[in-house]
Amino acid sequence: MYLELDEQGPRYAQLLRALKSAILGGRYPAGAKLPATRVLARQLELSRNTVLAAYEQLRAEGFIEGRVGSGCYVAEIAQAPSAPPKRRTRPAAPLSRRGQRGQDMYDRNIPGRQHKGVRYNLQYGLPVTNPALSSAWRRELHYAAARAELDYPNPQGVIALRESVCDYLKRRRGIVAAAEDVMIVTGTQQAIAFAADVLLDEGDTAVVEDPNYQGARQALLAQGAHLLSCRVDDDGLVASELPTGAAVKLLVVTPSHQFPTGSVLTLPRRMELLAYADAQRCFVVEDDYDGEFRYDARPLAALKSLDSNERVIYIGSFSKVIFPSLRLGYMVLPPSLRNAFVAAKWLNDRGCPAIEQAALARLISTGAFERHLRQTSLALKARRAALLAGIKRHTGNHVQLADSGAGMHVVAWLPRLTHAQVERLIENARARGLGLYSINPYYMRKPSRPGLMLGYADLPPADLEAAMALLGRCLRELSDA
Ligand SMILES: Cc1ncc(COP(=O)(O)O)c(C=O)c1O
Repeated sequence: MYLELDEQGPRYAQLLRALKSAILGGRYPAGAKLPATRVLARQLELSRNTVLAAYEQLRAEGFIEGRVGSGCYVAEIAQAPSAPPKRRTRPAAPLSRRGQRGQDMYDRNIPGRQHKGVRYNLQYGLPVTNPALSSAWRRELHYAAARAELDYPNPQGVIALRESVCDYLKRRRGIVAAAEDVMIVTGTQQAIAFAADVLLDEGDTAVVEDPNYQGARQALLAQGAHLLSCRVDDDGLVASELPTGAAVKLLVVTPSHQFPTGSVLTLPRRMELLAYADAQRCFVVEDDYDGEFRYDARPLAALKSLDSNERVIYIGSFSKVIFPSLRLGYMVLPPSLRNAFVAAKWLNDRGCPAIEQAALARLISTGAFERHLRQTSLALKARRAALLAGIKRHTGNHVQLADSGAGMHVVAWLPRLTHAQVERLIENARARGLGLYSINPYYMRKPSRPGLMLGYADLPPADLEAAMALLGRCLRELSDA
């Protein structure tokens, strides 16, 4: 019998795996005698002790019977069908409706739209790299790990981090909250999933902006929500058009910087939205994903700061202001919802990792976080200026900019092109090393004109200038074709 060892880990474990696979695959049928340990050791150039240990383990697990060292036989119970089992493409029993909805979404999303490996990738969502932040983060992680409490953390979040978040929100976002109102989560995605979980039953109506953040849409649809949308214009969500026919239970909005168009919800519309929530007796999720970064004026106060009737569930994320792999964010909850959300967190994962939370609390309290914010704002401002100048210089009258003076991306509308032409543009650009992304996936209904999301956080100004020169060349080629 030929046994192949996989060279992974200790020799004894390799042999054990090879023998199990031979038995389960039927190459050693029930009742067959295994080779004597000395013989096998010689054949495979292993020590006899290694073979003895593997046989002992097989015996302990019930694969073989007999006395190791004087004849071992394959047990009946270990007998498997002679052909190795095929990997199923469908589960042996049906998934739940929620499981199936989630899988369908994930499968559709998997190929991804990301242009990995291109020279200039204008992918939205990539963070600014800041070496000073990396070293401060390493230091704080080290400090926190050395002092870690080993018991389960408070599911609502480490108190030091919740207090730091309150302090930050008061200074930067105009929100007055106590630590008991704050819950630490693994990011916006988890926060919206909890909102759906706690507030929606299958078939309940939720409203999103059109266009919107696909992560929010997916979380609501996975929950089985009936999804309606409301149009957005240059002043943000058109609150006067919010649906009145259905019993809306939840709204998800991005008032400080509408995602992805970049418009900012005006004060009258904010008041209209809050009045609507009161009238509908529903909750509003405020996704404040990058409200921090404004370049031409002070950041606007959050919608939550106007929320006198406790209708707004505020969500902040560290994905944009630090980096997305951190997977930390927070919610500011109306007191009436606090226990239900903490229970959802507790049921879901028993709380975010305590060491990262403690490290982040210190990153904020030592001032390193605010230093990083200042540096990042400056870097983003320079990158944005380079991008806009490059567009002006290289793209002629092809591009209409929807520039809100905030965030980490701009929307470039291409009103003179068709959707099909923009698809060709994206392909041609990719072949030349430029990663471009259509705005279409964020829309519920295809927009009347095609447009591109230009994420600029990850590229230095010189690269952005070069990227826009390439875009200009691709646009000219398309017009000449
Ligand atoms: C609109 C919007 N909200 C939230 C997020 C961040 O999500 P998370 O905190 O889950 O990383 C993003 C990231 O791209 C976003 O575009």
